[in-house]
Amino acid sequence: MNKRFYITTAIDYVNGQPHLGHAYEKIIADVIARSRRSLGEEVFFLTGLDEHGQKVQQVALAQGKSPQAYCDELAVDWQAFAKKLELTNDDFVRTTQPRHKEFVQAGLSRVMAAGKVYKKTYSGYYSAREETFLTEKDRRPDGTFDPSWGEVTELQEENYFFKLGEQQAWLIEYIEQNPSFIQPDYRRNEVLGFLKNNTLEDLCISRPVARLNWGIPLPFDPAYVTYVWFDALVNYASTAFAHQELELWPADIHVIGKDIVKFHAVYWPIMLKAMDLPLPKQILVHGWWQKDGARISKSTGNVVDPIAVINEWGLDAFRFYVLRELDIGPDGNWTDAGFKARYQAELANGLGNLVNRSLSMLKRYRNGVVPVKSTELAADATKAADETRALLQQSQLQAALQSIWGLVNRANKYVDETAPFKLAKDPAQAQRLDGVLYNLVETCRVLAVLLNPFLPGTTAKIYTQLGLSGAPDKLADAAWGGLAAGHTIGEPAALFPRKDEPKK
Ligand code: ME8
Ligand code: MG
Repeated sequence: MNKRFYITTAIDYVNGQPHLGHAYEKIIADVIARSRRSLGEEVFFLTGLDEHGQKVQQVALAQGKSPQAYCDELAVDWQAFAKKLELTNDDFVRTTQPRHKEFVQAGLSRVMAAGKVYKKTYSGYYSAREETFLTEKDRRPDGTFDPSWGEVTELQEENYFFKLGEQQAWLIEYIEQNPSFIQPDYRRNEVLGFLKNNTLEDLCISRPVARLNWGIPLPFDPAYVTYVWFDALVNYASTAFAHQELELWPADIHVIGKDIVKFHAVYWPIMLKAMDLPLPKQILVHGWWQKDGARISKSTGNVVDPIAVINEWGLDAFRFYVLRELDIGPDGNWTDAGFKARYQAELANGLGNLVNRSLSMLKRYRNGVVPVKSTELAADATKAADETRALLQQSQLQAALQSIWGLVNRANKYVDETAPFKLAKDPAQAQRLDGVLYNLVETCRVLAVLLNPFLPGTTAKIYTQLGLSGAPDKLADAAWGGLAAGHTIGEPAALFPRKDEPKK
Protein backbone atom coordinates (compact mmCIF):
# COMPACT_ATOMS: atom_id res chain seq x y z
CA MET A 1 0.00 0.00 0.00
CA ASN A 2 1.18 3.53 -0.75
CA LYS A 3 1.43 6.21 1.82
CA ARG A 4 -1.13 8.94 1.43
CA PHE A 5 -0.31 12.60 1.32
CA TYR A 6 -1.40 13.68 4.80
CA ILE A 7 -2.04 17.38 5.46
CA THR A 8 -3.33 18.99 8.65
CA THR A 9 -4.31 22.41 9.98
CA ALA A 10 -3.96 23.69 13.53
CA ILE A 11 -6.95 22.64 15.58
CA ASP A 12 -8.82 25.72 16.72
CA TYR A 13 -9.74 26.61 20.28
CA VAL A 14 -13.49 26.50 20.67
CA ASN A 15 -13.54 29.60 22.82
CA GLY A 16 -15.45 31.62 20.22
CA GLN A 17 -16.61 31.73 16.64
CA PRO A 18 -14.33 31.21 13.63
CA HIS A 19 -12.70 34.33 12.23
CA LEU A 20 -10.70 35.34 9.17
CA GLY A 21 -7.43 33.84 10.45
CA HIS A 22 -9.01 30.45 11.01
CA ALA A 23 -10.66 30.56 7.58
CA TYR A 24 -7.41 31.53 5.87
CA GLU A 25 -5.45 28.62 7.32
CA LYS A 26 -8.14 26.10 6.45
CA ILE A 27 -8.37 27.39 2.88
CA ILE A 28 -4.59 27.11 2.44
CA ALA A 29 -4.72 23.48 3.53
CA ASP A 30 -7.78 22.75 1.40
CA VAL A 31 -6.18 24.18 -1.74
CA ILE A 32 -3.02 22.16 -1.14
CA ALA A 33 -5.13 19.03 -0.55
CA ARG A 34 -7.15 19.59 -3.72
CA SER A 35 -3.96 20.36 -5.67
CA ARG A 36 -2.35 17.10 -4.62
CA ARG A 37 -5.46 15.15 -5.59
CA SER A 38 -5.45 16.96 -8.92
CA LEU A 39 -1.81 15.91 -9.33
CA GLY A 40 -2.97 12.32 -8.95
CA GLU A 41 -1.98 11.70 -5.33
CA GLU A 42 -4.10 10.06 -2.65
CA VAL A 43 -4.69 12.63 0.04
CA PHE A 44 -5.93 12.76 3.61
CA PHE A 45 -6.83 16.20 4.92
CA LEU A 46 -7.46 16.74 8.63
CA THR A 47 -8.83 19.71 10.53
CA GLY A 48 -10.66 19.97 13.83
CA LEU A 49 -10.99 21.43 17.29
CA ASP A 50 -8.86 21.85 20.39
CA GLU A 51 -11.42 21.49 23.16
CA HIS A 52 -9.53 21.09 26.42
CA GLY A 53 -7.73 23.56 28.62
CA GLN A 54 -8.24 26.67 30.62
CA LYS A 55 -9.44 28.97 27.85
CA VAL A 56 -12.31 26.69 26.94
CA GLN A 57 -13.18 25.86 30.54
CA GLN A 58 -13.35 29.56 31.41
CA VAL A 59 -15.69 30.46 28.56
CA ALA A 60 -17.95 27.49 29.28
CA LEU A 61 -18.21 28.34 32.96
CA ALA A 62 -18.86 32.00 32.16
CA GLN A 63 -21.84 30.81 30.10
CA GLY A 64 -23.02 28.53 32.90
CA LYS A 65 -22.44 25.40 30.83
CA SER A 66 -20.42 22.27 31.37
CA PRO A 67 -17.32 22.36 29.19
CA GLN A 68 -18.46 19.30 27.25
CA ALA A 69 -21.94 20.71 26.57
CA TYR A 70 -20.36 24.00 25.52
CA CYS A 71 -17.93 22.25 23.15
CA ASP A 72 -20.68 20.10 21.67
CA GLU A 73 -22.69 23.21 20.84
CA LEU A 74 -19.76 25.10 19.35
CA ALA A 75 -18.51 22.08 17.41
CA VAL A 76 -21.73 22.23 15.38
CA ASP A 77 -20.93 25.80 14.32
CA TRP A 78 -17.32 24.99 13.50
CA GLN A 79 -18.23 21.96 11.43
CA ALA A 80 -20.81 24.04 9.59
CA PHE A 81 -18.05 26.58 8.97
CA ALA A 82 -15.84 23.90 7.40
CA LYS A 83 -18.76 23.09 5.06
CA LYS A 84 -19.29 26.76 4.29
CA LEU A 85 -15.64 26.95 3.15
CA GLU A 86 -16.20 23.73 1.14
CA LEU A 87 -13.23 22.13 2.83
CA THR A 88 -12.51 18.65 1.52
CA ASN A 89 -11.33 17.38 4.89
CA ASP A 90 -11.46 13.62 5.30
CA ASP A 91 -11.95 13.70 9.06
CA PHE A 92 -12.70 16.26 11.74
CA VAL A 93 -10.91 15.68 15.00
CA ARG A 94 -12.23 16.81 18.37
CA THR A 95 -9.81 16.35 21.23
CA THR A 96 -12.66 15.17 23.47
CA GLN A 97 -13.20 12.10 21.27
CA PRO A 98 -12.41 8.84 23.07
CA ARG A 99 -10.11 7.69 20.24
CA HIS A 100 -7.96 10.78 20.77
CA LYS A 101 -7.96 10.65 24.57
CA GLU A 102 -6.93 6.99 24.56
CA PHE A 103 -4.08 7.70 22.15
CA VAL A 104 -2.81 10.61 24.26
CA GLN A 105 -2.87 8.43 27.36
CA ALA A 106 -1.03 5.63 25.57
CA GLY A 107 1.58 8.16 24.42
CA LEU A 108 1.99 9.48 27.95
CA SER A 109 2.42 5.96 29.31
CA ARG A 110 5.02 5.35 26.66
CA VAL A 111 7.13 8.41 27.43
CA MET A 112 6.75 7.69 31.15
CA ALA A 113 7.98 4.12 30.66
CA ALA A 114 10.87 5.42 28.58
CA GLY A 115 11.99 7.54 31.51
CA LYS A 116 11.26 10.84 29.78
CA VAL A 117 8.86 12.13 32.45
CA TYR A 118 9.52 12.97 36.09
CA LYS A 119 7.76 14.73 38.95
CA LYS A 120 9.08 17.79 40.73
CA THR A 121 7.93 20.72 42.75
CA TYR A 122 7.66 23.85 40.76
CA SER A 123 7.55 27.27 42.25
CA GLY A 124 7.31 30.36 40.14
CA TYR A 125 4.91 32.33 38.02
CA TYR A 126 1.95 31.19 35.98
CA SER A 127 0.00 32.85 33.20
CA ALA A 128 -3.50 31.41 33.22
CA ARG A 129 -4.36 33.10 29.95
CA GLU A 130 -1.54 31.40 28.07
CA GLU A 131 -1.47 28.35 30.34
CA THR A 132 2.26 28.74 30.64
CA PHE A 133 4.80 28.90 33.42
CA LEU A 134 6.99 31.97 33.36
CA THR A 135 10.42 32.53 34.78
CA GLU A 136 12.48 35.50 35.87
CA LYS A 137 13.72 35.67 32.28
CA ASP A 138 10.21 36.57 31.15
CA ARG A 139 10.16 39.74 33.23
CA ARG A 140 10.55 43.01 31.40
CA PRO A 141 13.35 45.40 32.35
CA ASP A 142 10.97 47.19 34.73
CA GLY A 143 10.23 43.92 36.54
CA THR A 144 6.67 43.45 35.29
CA PHE A 145 5.36 40.79 32.94
CA ASP A 146 4.06 41.72 29.50
CA PRO A 147 0.29 42.37 29.62
CA SER A 148 -0.18 39.74 26.89
CA TRP A 149 0.33 37.10 29.60
CA GLY A 150 -2.79 38.31 31.37
CA GLU A 151 -2.81 37.98 35.14
CA VAL A 152 0.39 36.33 36.37
CA THR A 153 0.17 34.55 39.70
CA GLU A 154 2.87 33.12 41.89
CA LEU A 155 2.39 29.50 42.74
CA GLN A 156 4.09 26.43 44.05
CA GLU A 157 2.93 22.98 43.06
CA GLU A 158 4.07 19.50 42.17
CA ASN A 159 3.86 18.62 38.49
CA TYR A 160 5.08 16.19 35.89
CA PHE A 161 7.78 17.34 33.51
CA PHE A 162 8.74 16.08 30.09
CA LYS A 163 12.46 16.11 29.38
CA LEU A 164 13.06 18.63 26.64
CA GLY A 165 16.53 19.55 27.77
CA GLU A 166 19.42 17.70 26.16
CA GLN A 167 17.33 17.34 22.99
CA GLN A 168 18.63 20.43 21.31
CA ALA A 169 21.64 19.02 19.49
CA TRP A 170 19.86 16.43 17.39
CA LEU A 171 16.97 18.77 16.63
CA ILE A 172 19.31 21.53 15.43
CA GLU A 173 21.10 19.03 13.24
CA TYR A 174 17.82 17.66 11.91
CA ILE A 175 16.51 21.12 11.01
CA GLU A 176 19.79 22.04 9.34
CA GLN A 177 19.86 18.86 7.32
CA ASN A 178 16.22 19.07 6.26
CA PRO A 179 15.74 22.59 4.93
CA SER A 180 12.13 21.94 3.91
CA PHE A 181 11.16 20.80 7.43
CA ILE A 182 10.23 24.35 8.45
CA GLN A 183 9.02 26.72 5.73
CA PRO A 184 9.37 29.55 4.78
CA ASP A 185 13.15 29.79 5.28
CA TYR A 186 13.00 32.76 7.62
CA ARG A 187 10.83 30.77 10.02
CA ARG A 188 13.36 27.95 9.96
CA ASN A 189 16.10 30.45 10.76
CA GLU A 190 14.10 31.84 13.67
CA VAL A 191 13.70 28.37 15.13
CA LEU A 192 17.40 27.64 14.67
CA GLY A 193 18.26 30.95 16.30
CA PHE A 194 16.01 30.15 19.23
CA LEU A 195 17.48 26.67 19.66
CA LYS A 196 21.05 27.86 19.42
CA ASN A 197 20.68 30.78 21.82
CA ASN A 198 18.54 29.22 24.54
CA THR A 199 18.67 26.19 26.74
CA LEU A 200 15.44 24.26 26.57
CA GLU A 201 13.71 23.93 29.91
CA ASP A 202 11.82 20.75 30.61
CA LEU A 203 8.14 21.10 29.77
CA CYS A 204 5.48 20.92 32.46
CA ILE A 205 2.88 18.54 31.04
CA SER A 206 0.43 18.28 33.92
CA ARG A 207 -2.08 20.49 35.67
CA PRO A 208 -3.45 19.54 39.12
CA VAL A 209 -7.14 18.69 38.87
CA ALA A 210 -7.78 21.03 41.78
CA ARG A 211 -6.79 23.95 39.52
CA LEU A 212 -7.94 22.74 36.11
CA ASN A 213 -9.99 19.64 35.50
CA TRP A 214 -10.98 20.10 31.85
CA GLY A 215 -8.37 17.86 30.32
CA ILE A 216 -7.26 14.32 29.74
CA PRO A 217 -6.36 12.56 33.03
CA LEU A 218 -2.74 11.43 33.27
CA PRO A 219 -2.83 7.64 32.96
CA PHE A 220 -0.32 7.28 35.80
CA ASP A 221 -1.78 9.87 38.19
CA PRO A 222 -5.48 10.77 38.20
CA ALA A 223 -4.83 13.81 40.38
CA TYR A 224 -3.63 15.54 37.22
CA VAL A 225 -4.85 16.34 33.72
CA THR A 226 -2.62 16.68 30.68
CA TYR A 227 -1.31 20.10 29.68
CA VAL A 228 -3.42 21.22 26.72
CA TRP A 229 -0.54 21.41 24.22
CA PHE A 230 0.69 17.91 24.99
CA ASP A 231 -2.89 16.84 24.27
CA ALA A 232 -3.54 19.06 21.23
CA LEU A 233 -0.39 18.34 19.22
CA VAL A 234 -1.03 14.63 19.47
CA ASN A 235 -4.24 15.02 17.42
CA TYR A 236 -2.23 14.74 14.23
CA ALA A 237 -0.99 11.29 15.18
CA SER A 238 -4.06 10.06 17.06
CA THR A 239 -6.20 10.66 13.98
CA ALA A 240 -3.64 9.13 11.65
CA PHE A 241 -3.60 5.94 13.67
CA ALA A 242 -7.39 5.93 14.02
CA HIS A 243 -7.34 5.15 10.29
CA GLN A 244 -5.27 2.00 10.52
CA GLU A 245 -6.36 0.93 7.04
CA LEU A 246 -4.58 3.95 5.54
CA GLU A 247 -0.91 4.71 5.68
CA LEU A 248 -0.93 8.29 6.96
CA TRP A 249 1.91 8.87 9.39
CA PRO A 250 4.21 10.79 9.15
CA ALA A 251 2.24 13.86 8.13
CA ASP A 252 3.44 15.55 4.96
CA ILE A 253 2.45 19.09 5.92
CA HIS A 254 1.26 20.73 9.13
CA VAL A 255 -0.18 24.13 8.17
CA ILE A 256 0.01 26.50 11.16
CA GLY A 257 0.19 30.19 12.06
CA LYS A 258 3.34 32.00 13.11
CA ASP A 259 2.36 32.21 16.80
CA ILE A 260 2.55 28.46 17.38
CA VAL A 261 5.82 27.63 15.65
CA LYS A 262 7.69 26.72 18.86
CA PHE A 263 5.08 24.12 19.78
CA HIS A 264 5.23 22.50 16.35
CA ALA A 265 8.90 22.87 15.48
CA VAL A 266 10.43 22.25 18.92
CA TYR A 267 8.07 20.45 21.31
CA TRP A 268 6.30 18.26 18.77
CA PRO A 269 9.43 16.72 17.17
CA ILE A 270 10.85 15.96 20.62
CA MET A 271 7.55 14.41 21.73
CA LEU A 272 7.42 12.29 18.59
CA LYS A 273 10.96 11.08 19.05
CA ALA A 274 10.14 10.11 22.63
CA MET A 275 7.12 8.18 21.36
CA ASP A 276 9.28 6.50 18.70
CA LEU A 277 7.36 8.02 15.81
CA PRO A 278 8.85 9.61 12.69
CA LEU A 279 8.75 13.40 12.35
CA PRO A 280 6.38 15.22 9.99
CA LYS A 281 7.92 16.18 6.67
CA GLN A 282 7.02 19.85 6.80
CA ILE A 283 5.72 22.58 9.04
CA LEU A 284 4.32 25.29 6.78
CA VAL A 285 3.95 28.59 8.62
CA HIS A 286 1.59 31.33 7.48
CA GLY A 287 1.41 34.91 8.70
CA TRP A 288 -1.36 36.75 10.45
CA TRP A 289 -4.09 38.93 9.01
CA GLN A 290 -4.81 42.38 10.24
CA LYS A 291 -7.75 44.51 9.21
CA ASP A 292 -7.16 48.11 8.14
CA GLY A 293 -3.67 47.95 9.59
CA ALA A 294 -4.75 46.99 13.11
CA ARG A 295 -4.92 43.72 15.00
CA ILE A 296 -8.11 41.73 14.53
CA SER A 297 -9.91 41.81 17.83
CA LYS A 298 -13.44 41.14 18.91
CA SER A 299 -13.22 43.57 21.79
CA THR A 300 -12.40 46.51 19.54
CA GLY A 301 -14.80 45.32 16.84
CA ASN A 302 -12.00 45.25 14.27
CA VAL A 303 -13.09 41.99 12.64
CA VAL A 304 -13.81 40.45 9.27
CA ASP A 305 -16.74 38.05 9.42
CA PRO A 306 -15.92 35.41 6.81
CA ILE A 307 -19.49 34.17 6.69
CA ALA A 308 -20.86 37.64 5.92
CA VAL A 309 -18.27 38.13 3.16
CA ILE A 310 -19.08 34.73 1.65
CA ASN A 311 -22.81 35.41 1.78
CA GLU A 312 -22.38 38.71 0.00
CA TRP A 313 -19.63 37.91 -2.52
CA GLY A 314 -19.59 34.15 -2.86
CA LEU A 315 -17.20 31.57 -1.44
CA ASP A 316 -14.81 31.55 -4.38
CA ALA A 317 -14.30 35.31 -4.23
CA PHE A 318 -13.29 34.92 -0.57
CA ARG A 319 -10.99 31.94 -1.24
CA PHE A 320 -9.42 33.84 -4.13
CA TYR A 321 -8.80 37.05 -2.22
CA VAL A 322 -7.06 35.55 0.79
CA LEU A 323 -4.69 33.45 -1.30
CA ARG A 324 -4.05 36.01 -4.04
CA GLU A 325 -3.52 38.88 -1.62
CA LEU A 326 -1.18 37.13 0.81
CA ASP A 327 1.65 34.71 0.20
CA ILE A 328 2.14 31.95 2.78
CA GLY A 329 4.55 33.56 5.23
CA PRO A 330 4.25 37.30 5.76
CA ASP A 331 1.46 39.11 7.56
CA GLY A 332 -1.40 40.50 5.53
CA ASN A 333 -3.84 43.35 5.75
CA TRP A 334 -7.50 43.00 4.85
CA THR A 335 -9.24 46.06 3.51
CA ASP A 336 -12.77 46.01 2.11
CA ALA A 337 -11.62 48.29 -0.71
CA GLY A 338 -8.79 45.89 -1.61
CA PHE A 339 -11.21 42.99 -1.63
CA LYS A 340 -13.64 44.79 -3.94
CA ALA A 341 -10.82 45.94 -6.24
CA ARG A 342 -9.59 42.38 -6.77
CA TYR A 343 -13.15 41.14 -7.22
CA GLN A 344 -13.81 43.71 -9.96
CA ALA A 345 -10.47 43.59 -11.75
CA GLU A 346 -9.41 39.97 -11.52
CA LEU A 347 -12.62 38.00 -11.08
CA ALA A 348 -15.40 40.01 -12.78
CA ASN A 349 -13.42 41.81 -15.51
CA GLY A 350 -10.63 39.25 -15.76
CA LEU A 351 -11.71 35.62 -15.53
CA GLY A 352 -15.47 36.21 -15.60
CA ASN A 353 -15.42 38.45 -18.65
CA LEU A 354 -13.09 36.14 -20.57
CA VAL A 355 -15.26 33.08 -20.03
CA ASN A 356 -18.48 34.94 -20.65
CA ARG A 357 -17.49 36.60 -23.89
CA SER A 358 -15.68 33.53 -25.24
CA LEU A 359 -18.66 31.28 -24.72
CA SER A 360 -21.20 33.90 -25.81
CA MET A 361 -19.34 34.47 -29.09
CA LEU A 362 -19.16 30.75 -29.78
CA LYS A 363 -22.93 30.60 -29.18
CA ARG A 364 -23.66 33.58 -31.35
CA TYR A 365 -21.32 32.91 -34.26
CA ARG A 366 -21.14 29.10 -34.32
CA ASN A 367 -24.32 28.03 -32.59
CA GLY A 368 -22.23 26.78 -29.66
CA VAL A 369 -20.40 24.18 -31.73
CA VAL A 370 -16.62 23.89 -31.13
CA PRO A 371 -14.62 24.44 -34.35
CA VAL A 372 -11.63 22.43 -35.47
CA LYS A 373 -8.60 22.49 -33.18
CA SER A 374 -6.22 25.46 -33.36
CA THR A 375 -3.03 26.06 -31.38
CA GLU A 376 -2.38 29.79 -31.31
CA LEU A 377 -2.67 30.02 -27.50
CA ALA A 378 -1.40 26.49 -26.86
CA ALA A 379 2.09 27.60 -25.87
CA ASP A 380 0.75 30.17 -23.41
CA ALA A 381 -1.62 27.65 -21.91
CA THR A 382 1.07 24.98 -21.65
CA LYS A 383 3.44 27.42 -19.99
CA ALA A 384 0.80 28.35 -17.39
CA ALA A 385 -0.01 24.67 -16.80
CA ASP A 386 3.63 23.69 -16.37
CA GLU A 387 4.30 26.57 -14.01
CA THR A 388 1.15 25.89 -12.03
CA ARG A 389 1.98 22.21 -11.65
CA ALA A 390 5.47 23.00 -10.36
CA LEU A 391 4.23 25.74 -8.03
CA LEU A 392 1.45 23.61 -6.59
CA GLN A 393 3.96 20.87 -5.81
CA GLN A 394 5.79 23.51 -3.73
CA SER A 395 2.60 24.86 -2.09
CA GLN A 396 3.30 28.22 -3.78
CA LEU A 397 -0.34 29.15 -4.01
CA GLN A 398 -0.07 32.88 -4.61
CA ALA A 399 2.54 32.39 -7.33
CA ALA A 400 0.34 29.77 -8.99
CA LEU A 401 -2.55 32.25 -9.12
CA GLN A 402 -0.24 34.85 -10.61
CA SER A 403 0.85 32.42 -13.30
CA ILE A 404 -2.75 31.45 -14.06
CA TRP A 405 -3.73 35.09 -14.34
CA GLY A 406 -0.95 35.51 -16.84
CA LEU A 407 -3.03 33.24 -19.06
CA VAL A 408 -6.30 35.03 -18.23
CA ASN A 409 -4.77 38.35 -19.24
CA ARG A 410 -3.15 36.90 -22.34
CA ALA A 411 -6.48 35.51 -23.52
CA ASN A 412 -8.36 38.74 -22.83
CA LYS A 413 -5.73 40.59 -24.81
CA TYR A 414 -6.10 38.04 -27.61
CA VAL A 415 -9.79 38.93 -27.87
CA ASP A 416 -8.88 42.60 -28.24
CA GLU A 417 -6.16 41.82 -30.80
CA THR A 418 -8.16 39.46 -32.96
CA ALA A 419 -11.49 41.35 -32.63
CA PRO A 420 -13.76 38.36 -33.35
CA PHE A 421 -16.81 40.65 -33.54
CA LYS A 422 -15.22 42.23 -36.63
CA LEU A 423 -14.19 38.89 -38.11
CA ALA A 424 -17.79 37.73 -37.77
CA LYS A 425 -18.94 40.45 -40.17
CA ASP A 426 -16.65 39.26 -42.97
CA PRO A 427 -17.51 35.86 -44.52
CA ALA A 428 -13.98 35.65 -45.95
CA GLN A 429 -12.67 35.47 -42.35
CA ALA A 430 -14.77 32.46 -41.33
CA GLN A 431 -11.79 30.17 -40.90
CA ARG A 432 -9.87 32.77 -38.95
CA LEU A 433 -12.88 33.22 -36.66
CA ASP A 434 -13.05 29.45 -36.15
CA GLY A 435 -9.45 29.47 -35.02
CA VAL A 436 -9.91 32.39 -32.63
CA LEU A 437 -13.02 30.87 -31.06
CA TYR A 438 -11.30 27.52 -30.58
CA ASN A 439 -8.35 29.16 -28.82
CA LEU A 440 -10.67 31.09 -26.53
CA VAL A 441 -12.98 28.30 -25.40
CA GLU A 442 -10.11 25.84 -25.05
CA THR A 443 -8.26 28.37 -22.89
CA CYS A 444 -11.38 28.64 -20.71
CA ARG A 445 -11.34 24.86 -20.31
CA VAL A 446 -7.65 24.82 -19.36
CA LEU A 447 -8.27 27.62 -16.86
CA ALA A 448 -11.03 25.58 -15.23
CA VAL A 449 -8.57 22.71 -14.72
CA LEU A 450 -5.81 24.94 -13.33
CA LEU A 451 -8.12 26.87 -11.04
CA ASN A 452 -10.11 23.96 -9.71
CA PRO A 453 -8.18 23.61 -6.42
CA PHE A 454 -8.71 27.31 -5.69
CA LEU A 455 -12.20 28.04 -7.03
CA PRO A 456 -14.02 24.72 -7.11
CA GLY A 457 -17.50 26.20 -7.48
CA THR A 458 -16.52 28.51 -10.32
CA THR A 459 -14.59 25.88 -12.24
CA ALA A 460 -17.53 23.47 -11.99
CA LYS A 461 -19.69 26.21 -13.51
CA ILE A 462 -17.19 26.73 -16.33
CA TYR A 463 -17.27 23.01 -17.11
CA THR A 464 -21.06 22.99 -17.12
CA GLN A 465 -21.18 26.06 -19.37
CA LEU A 466 -18.72 24.32 -21.68
CA GLY A 467 -21.14 21.39 -21.82
CA LEU A 468 -18.57 19.05 -20.30
CA SER A 469 -19.50 16.27 -17.93
CA GLY A 470 -17.21 15.26 -15.09
CA ALA A 471 -15.09 17.62 -13.03
CA PRO A 472 -11.96 19.61 -13.96
CA ASP A 473 -10.10 17.85 -11.18
CA LYS A 474 -7.08 16.30 -12.91
CA LEU A 475 -4.18 18.59 -13.73
CA ALA A 476 -3.23 16.24 -16.55
CA ASP A 477 -6.40 17.40 -18.33
CA ALA A 478 -4.83 20.83 -18.76
CA ALA A 479 -3.07 19.50 -21.87
CA TRP A 480 -4.07 21.56 -24.88
CA GLY A 481 -6.69 20.19 -27.23
CA GLY A 482 -9.20 18.68 -24.81
CA LEU A 483 -12.21 20.23 -26.53
CA ALA A 484 -13.15 18.20 -29.58
CA ALA A 485 -14.41 19.72 -32.82
CA GLY A 486 -18.18 19.32 -33.12
CA HIS A 487 -18.80 19.35 -29.34
CA THR A 488 -21.70 21.63 -28.36
CA ILE A 489 -21.28 23.83 -25.31
CA GLY A 490 -23.94 24.71 -22.73
CA GLU A 491 -25.40 28.06 -21.71
CA PRO A 492 -23.04 30.91 -20.76
CA ALA A 493 -23.91 32.82 -17.58
CA ALA A 494 -22.03 35.43 -15.55
CA LEU A 495 -19.56 33.87 -13.08
CA PHE A 496 -18.95 36.97 -10.99
CA PRO A 497 -21.88 39.34 -11.26
CA ARG A 498 -21.02 42.99 -10.99
CA LYS A 499 -21.93 44.41 -7.62
CA ASP A 500 -23.65 47.74 -7.65
CA GLU A 501 -22.83 49.92 -4.69
CA PRO A 502 -25.89 50.22 -2.47
CA LYS A 503 -27.80 53.44 -3.14
CA LYS A 504 -27.14 56.03 -0.48
O1 ME8 B 1 -3.50 28.16 18.64
N1 ME8 B 1 -4.43 35.52 11.00
O2 ME8 B 1 -5.74 27.72 18.35
P1 ME8 B 1 -6.27 29.16 17.87
C1 ME8 B 1 -4.01 34.30 10.58
N2 ME8 B 1 -5.56 25.45 19.58
N3 ME8 B 1 -4.07 33.19 11.34
C2 ME8 B 1 -4.55 33.29 12.58
C3 ME8 B 1 -5.00 34.53 13.10
C4 ME8 B 1 -4.93 35.68 12.24
N4 ME8 B 1 -5.33 36.88 12.63
N5 ME8 B 1 -5.44 34.29 14.37
C5 ME8 B 1 -5.25 32.98 14.62
C6 ME8 B 1 -4.47 27.43 18.73
N6 ME8 B 1 -4.71 32.38 13.55
C7 ME8 B 1 -4.30 26.01 19.21
C8 ME8 B 1 -3.62 25.21 18.11
S1 ME8 B 1 -2.62 22.94 17.07
C9 ME8 B 1 -2.17 21.44 17.70
C10 ME8 B 1 -3.35 23.78 18.45
C11 ME8 B 1 -4.32 30.96 13.43
O3 ME8 B 1 -7.73 29.00 17.68
C12 ME8 B 1 -3.28 30.58 14.47
O4 ME8 B 1 -2.00 31.00 14.07
O5 ME8 B 1 -5.78 30.24 18.78
C13 ME8 B 1 -3.42 29.07 14.52
O6 ME8 B 1 -2.63 28.45 13.52
C14 ME8 B 1 -4.91 28.87 14.19
O7 ME8 B 1 -5.41 30.12 13.71
C15 ME8 B 1 -5.72 28.45 15.41
O8 ME8 B 1 -5.55 29.39 16.45
MG1 MG C 1 -4.44 31.68 19.39
